[in-house]
Amino acid sequence: MSQHNELSNELSQHSTQASITTRTVRAALESDHQHGSVIPPLYLSTNFTFAGFDDKREYDYTRSGNPSRDALAQALAELEQGYSATVVSSGMAAVTLVCQLLQADDLLVIPHDCYGGSYRLFTHLAQRGAFRLQVVDFSRDDLIDEVMAQEPSWLWLETPSNPLLRITDIAAWCNAAHQNHCQVCVDNTFLSPTGQQPIALGADLVVHSTTKYLNGHSDVVGGVVIAAQHDLGQQLDWWANCLGLTGSPFDAWLTLRGLRTLDVRVQQQVQNSVEIAQFLAQHPAVKQVHYPGLQQHPQHALAKHQQQHFGAIISFELEPDWIPCVLSALQHFSLAESLGGVESLIAHPATMTHAAMAPAARQRAGICDGLLRLSIGIEHSQDLIADLQRAFSQAAHQFLAAAQNQRQSTDSKPNKAQREVA
Ligand SMILES: Cc1ncc(COP(=O)(O)O)c(C=O)c1O
Repeated sequence: MSQHNELSNELSQHSTQASITTRTVRAALESDHQHGSVIPPLYLSTNFTFAGFDDKREYDYTRSGNPSRDALAQALAELEQGYSATVVSSGMAAVTLVCQLLQADDLLVIPHDCYGGSYRLFTHLAQRGAFRLQVVDFSRDDLIDEVMAQEPSWLWLETPSNPLLRITDIAAWCNAAHQNHCQVCVDNTFLSPTGQQPIALGADLVVHSTTKYLNGHSDVVGGVVIAAQHDLGQQLDWWANCLGLTGSPFDAWLTLRGLRTLDVRVQQQVQNSVEIAQFLAQHPAVKQVHYPGLQQHPQHALAKHQQQHFGAIISFELEPDWIPCVLSALQHFSLAESLGGVESLIAHPATMTHAAMAPAARQRAGICDGLLRLSIGIEHSQDLIADLQRAFSQAAHQFLAAAQNQRQSTDSKPNKAQREVA
């Protein structure tokens, strides 16, 4: 063994014992044995030469395999404690990939409040007969026996859920599933492996939209499926190549760059979120706040037990009439879909992220028209709080003025929240 290999062996042994902060920073560093570049090289090449007749090297064609994509895959498999990872071109490509594992008579059970795009894909594929589908509220453990009696093949969990931050007990559902020959896939996009490792809790597959926290800079769309076992990983790799779902090498390289700061980014985002959730919870204009870090969240104890942090997504409810005014008044929150970047975003789920859900399904899931979702970034928390405060005051003034005008004609009075905020 060369001195270099001994050293990298020592480093990799060290890195498997190290904290997630260190492991994300050091993922795939010093992997270039040709020139010793610190950062892994980027292989944009679509194809690789054969060494000779009938003598294929490790890589032949980038859709099937690429060293830059594999570097990201190895890093993500290791962070999620999985056997292997299949890196694909978007989070939805990852969801599509998992759907290939189901047969027409298989039953897939999904959450009633999962990401709208996943919900749309599942329902449309089920309508075409790709599999059977059942929708449940996974935050209700009392439904476990009832769900298992239907003999499902796969459970799809998303916890915390989008956009209402409900928590599913991953270990409880995985235990029940495995006793009933059922497998479990967890969408871990909202927390990233810094906040939760579903495979350690029993999941068979983990999905991420790497577009979100893993890349963290809102400049790459990507996805990954991490498999707990070799067999599932091989099937996923086969389907990803067959369907052409694999991600581009440049996107993988950028995502690996983003991954290096994952832990410090998320720490700041979570700290900001706790402060903002507390501010929202005591504000008279806010009817309800959904954030697992608040003690009043119905599953605060489960979140504390299952997660390493409470995440950086908060949703809250206002009077629906206030929404346009609040959204236009905010200066430090961009009105945009997506989440998980260093910049703070605000979204109106009913007309944006969850517009693909039928209004009745949205209502069943509790996604009302007054609901707003925040993706908290790494800006200064006091700037973000002042921005929200200002936007609520503007909305209150606007409605107070409107109410006064109306009162002059009908003698109606502003409500308590409008008076207090103004
Ligand atoms: C939880 C979750 N899963 C999957 C996706 C789909 O990811 P992508 O937009 O990268 O296709 C999203 C997108 O917002 C998401 O929030």
